[in-house]
Amino acid sequence: MELRRFGRADLEVPVIGLGTWTVFDVAPSDEAGPGAVVEGAFGDGVRLVDSSPMYGRAEAVLGRALSGAGVRATATVATKIWTPSIVEGRQQFDSQLGFFGGRVDIEQIHNLVAWREHLGWLEDEVKQGRIGLLGATHWNESRFGELIEVMETGHVDCIQIPYNPLEHKADGEVLSLAEERGIGVIAMRPFAEGGLLAHGPSDPRVLTELGVETWAQALLKWTLSDRRVHVAIPATSSVEHARSNAAAGDPPWFDDEQRTLVERVVARG
Ligand SMILES: NC(=O)c1ccc[n+]([C@@H]2O[C@H](COP(=O)([O-])OP(=O)(O)OC[C@H]3O[C@@H](n4cnc5c(N)ncnc54)[C@H](OP(=O)(O)O)[C@@H]3O)[C@@H](O)[C@H]2O)c1
Repeated sequence: MELRRFGRADLEVPVIGLGTWTVFDVAPSDEAGPGAVVEGAFGDGVRLVDSSPMYGRAEAVLGRALSGAGVRATATVATKIWTPSIVEGRQQFDSQLGFFGGRVDIEQIHNLVAWREHLGWLEDEVKQGRIGLLGATHWNESRFGELIEVMETGHVDCIQIPYNPLEHKADGEVLSLAEERGIGVIAMRPFAEGGLLAHGPSDPRVLTELGVETWAQALLKWTLSDRRVHVAIPATSSVEHARSNAAAGDPPWFDDEQRTLVERVVARG
């Protein structure tokens, strides 16, 4: 799988990661499922995983899946602080240290909640070595103005944004600024929560033209063919889907014509 270096930060990641929203928020009796997904994904080269205190039991389940598969040391764990309160933020971080073996590789401020308040104590944790890099996320394109403000402070090493053929407002100031400043880019929602998967091409020759086996792979390649993006994080509860997604992480990447073809299929959907 192709590796990409996060701009100015000293981190190289394989281009396909793994999201955990909903799919890892499972009951204790169902944790074998996410465990098998982590094993399958890491077996095929995935390294970056993404979670949040917002995702119910997902962080704890992910932590156990990583240690169960024996891959915590090679994983890049990205998770988030999601609260207006510094006290609660520190509690979320303490829990994460427990889930992820005493370190969070990428700590992101979720949905920009109280980002000015959190940056200070998070930067102290970076100095202590318990956090690797700092990031900021927002799922809503209408909040990109504020995300740009955070990027311009120079205090975040990476951002997490939606970037798919339906939600591509980032392909303006956000991605240009990220490239200019050497900021890492994690693309969330590559399938728009799965919504884009229901409307694939009716003619199978489209997949042949794109050089992929599945529509999901076409969507992942659409995102990753923009080289300003470093990693896409599809979420899945299925080992088969995790492995098929990982297979989209190899070049060749789409040219402009192929990206337009994917956009046309989505627009017809
Ligand atoms: N920071 C934020 O505000 C924010 C917001 C949203 C998301 N995120 C992050 O981004 C991650 C991804 O976004 P998302 O979870 O919203 O949605 P997504 O990754 O766009 O779509 C997930 C859906 O796609 C399906 N899927 C995955 N691979 C597939 C394949 N190869 N074939 C068919 N179906 C497939 C999954 O179902 P199966 O289980 O059946 O595979 C699941 O229902 C999240 O998990 C989270 O980590 C962050």
